[in-house]
Amino acid sequence: MLVKDKSFNLFIPQSAIQARIAELSKQIAQDYADKNPLFITILNGAFIFAADLIRQIDIVSEITFVKFTSYESMQSTGKVDQILGFDDDVFQRHVVLIEDIVDTGLTISEIIQELKRFRPASLEVVSLLTKPSAFQKDVHVRYVGFEIENKFVVGYGLDYDGYGRNLQDIYIVDEH
Ligand code: IMP
Repeated sequence: MLVKDKSFNLFIPQSAIQARIAELSKQIAQDYADKNPLFITILNGAFIFAADLIRQIDIVSEITFVKFTSYESMQSTGKVDQILGFDDDVFQRHVVLIEDIVDTGLTISEIIQELKRFRPASLEVVSLLTKPSAFQKDVHVRYVGFEIENKFVVGYGLDYDGYGRNLQDIYIVDEH
């Protein structure tokens, strides 16, 4: 599979993604029953994951979206510039951040730091993918879909330079 100028191989098929989402949503629904959680989806990458996840969490909840940037092409810049702010009230809410992938952890750490200023009752992260060997920060991701190796992936919302988000499966870069 060619995305722009790079070759990618099938890595996580959609059936495996959906099976894992069913498990995660069940766990989250149990943990947040009667907590009226506020799900904050981090755009752009997490939009497909969030849509699938949230529809299976059958408890009273709210969902909103924020957009930050820190990635240029295939490398994390480590800087987070908020583009679209949120105006929802986070104070004393049980907040769950929905992320597509935690790579270096710099993005999620900054977002957590920013959100903590608004004093939520609790703050946890659900990420479809994590790359533990790339972590540069001590980040705690409460709900992890799949831990993967430190290689670039596309599909299911994740992009390479804007491309590949619409792929149903997740593909990993072919370095040969
Ligand atoms: P971090 O700050 O290094 O943890 O990067 C987080 C963001 O970088 C994610 O939300 C993604 O948008 C993007 N990213 C990190 N790794 C990948 C990848 O392998 N493929 C596509 N996007 C990625």
